[in-house]
Amino acid sequence: MSTKRFYIYTWGCQMNEHKSEGMAGVLVRAGYLPADDPAHADVVLFNTCMVREKPVHKIISEAGVIAQLKEKNPNLLLGVGGCVAQALKEKLFRQSPAIDFVFGSSNISQIPELIEQARARRALGKPTWILAVDKIPDKIEDLPFLRASRFQAKVTITEGCSNFCSFCIVPYTTGLLRSRLPGDIISEVSELAAQGYKEVQLLGQNVDSYGKDLKDPTINFANLLRALTEIPIPRIRFTSSHPQDITDDVIAVLGEENNICEHVHMAVQSGSNRVLAEMRRGYTKERFLELVSKLRERGVNVTTDIIVGFPTETKEDFQETVDLVKQARFGGAFIFKYSPRPGTIAYYKYRDAVPDEEKQRRLEILLTLQKQITDEENRKRVGQTVEVLVEGPARTPGLVMGKTRDHRTVVFEGASDLIGELVHVKITHGSVAGLAGQLVRPGVLV
Ligand code: SAM
Ligand code: SF4
Ligand code: F3S
Repeated sequence: MSTKRFYIYTWGCQMNEHKSEGMAGVLVRAGYLPADDPAHADVVLFNTCMVREKPVHKIISEAGVIAQLKEKNPNLLLGVGGCVAQALKEKLFRQSPAIDFVFGSSNISQIPELIEQARARRALGKPTWILAVDKIPDKIEDLPFLRASRFQAKVTITEGCSNFCSFCIVPYTTGLLRSRLPGDIISEVSELAAQGYKEVQLLGQNVDSYGKDLKDPTINFANLLRALTEIPIPRIRFTSSHPQDITDDVIAVLGEENNICEHVHMAVQSGSNRVLAEMRRGYTKERFLELVSKLRERGVNVTTDIIVGFPTETKEDFQETVDLVKQARFGGAFIFKYSPRPGTIAYYKYRDAVPDEEKQRRLEILLTLQKQITDEENRKRVGQTVEVLVEGPARTPGLVMGKTRDHRTVVFEGASDLIGELVHVKITHGSVAGLAGQLVRPGVLV
C-alpha cells in the first residue's frame, strides 16, 4: 500500500502557522508524508482564520476547489480546523458538502483518528461528517511540531486572549488566556538552541499578558525574557505586544545587550482616544506615544496594526490617527478596514456605519503616508553595517534576503549556502521596498 499524503492550507496569524506545524507533525508521526499539491493528497486540512469576513469567504470558495478534486479522487478527505471551526462547529458542514470532518484548535492530536473514522464510515456508505471540537484538549508539550524552517522556530507562550477588544473575534475562537509554564518554554527554547536554531519567535496574542492567569506573581513576561537571555541562541523575538500591558521591565530588557531582538509589534488600532475607549483597548494615544518614545530611546523598531472605519470613527477621529502615524513614524504598519464580526461587542452595539468607499479612502491615505515614512526611515540606514539572518533567495536570481535584528528586510548578492546563517551586510540603498547592501564578511559569524 502506498504512503498516504497530506496537504495543509493555512490562513491567519503566526499562531495559526505554528498550529499547522503541529498538524503536519502529528500526521508524519502517523505515517503520512507531505504532498506538494492538494491534487496529489489523500487528506487536505484547512487551518482557518475568522478575524475578518474576507478570509471566511475564501475558505468556502477553496472548499469548492476541493469538491472538484474529489470528483477525480473520491477517496480524498477534507478536514477543517482553526478559528472558523471553533466558532461554527457543526454549522460548517452546511457551508460546504465537501467537508468530511471538523476539528478544534486544541484537537490536533486527534486528527489521524478522525481521518480513520471518516474513512471507515465512508467504506460503510455512512455520511462521513465527524466533529471533534474541544473534546480532549492537546497539551502543547506533547505535539510533535514539524517546523517549516531549520533555523527559525515559533514557540507559543500563551494561547487564547482575555482582552475582549470590542471589534475582535479572537477571544471567542481561541478562549481565555492560558499561559504555558516558564519551565516548559525554557526547555523548548533550550532544545531548539541545542538543535542549532538561530532564532526563536515567542507567540501570543498579547505576550505582555503572559502569566496573568497563573497564581505565581513572579511569572510575567519580563522575567520570562530575562530567563531566555541565558540560553545560547542568537536571536529571540516575540509578537504581539500590547500597549495596555507592556511594562517598563520588558522595555528595560529590550535595551540591554542580549539575544532579545530590538523589534516590538504593538497595535495602536486608532489615534482617537474616544475610539480607543470604544474599542476597549485600555490606553490613550498619549500613553501609546510615550511607550513609542521609550522604545525608540533603546533603538527598538516599532511596527503596528491600525483599523480604519471603526463604526464610530468620524473624519476628525481618522485625522487623529493620521497625526499619530506622523508622530510615531512606525517601521511598518498593517492597515485593515473594519470588518463587523458577529458575536463581538461592536457588532451588537454599533452598525457597520462607515461606508466601504470611505473606509477605502482612509486606508489609502494611511498606506501612502506609511510608505513615505518607511521610505524615509530606510534611506537613513544607508552606510550602516547590520547583522542579517539570511532567510532565503530574493526574487531576483543571485540575490538572497534576510532580516535585521530590528526586523527590516535586507536584500544582497550572495550564494544560497548563506541561507540560515548570520552575516554582516553594509547597507548601500534604502527605499520603501526595504534595504539593499553588500556582504561585508563572506564568512559566517556564529
Ligand atoms: N492580539 C493582537 C493585538 O491586540 O495587538 C492582534 C491580533 S489580530 C489577529 C491582528 C489584527 O487584526 C488586529 O491588531 C487588528 O488590527 C485586526 N483586526 C482584528 N479584528 C478586526 C476586525 N473586526 N476588523 C478589521 N481588523 C481587525
Ligand atoms: Fe483581539 Fe484585542 Fe485580544 Fe488582540 S488583544 S487578540 S485585538 S481581543
Ligand atoms: Fe485568525 Fe484565529 Fe489567528 S481568528 S488571526 S487565526 S487567532
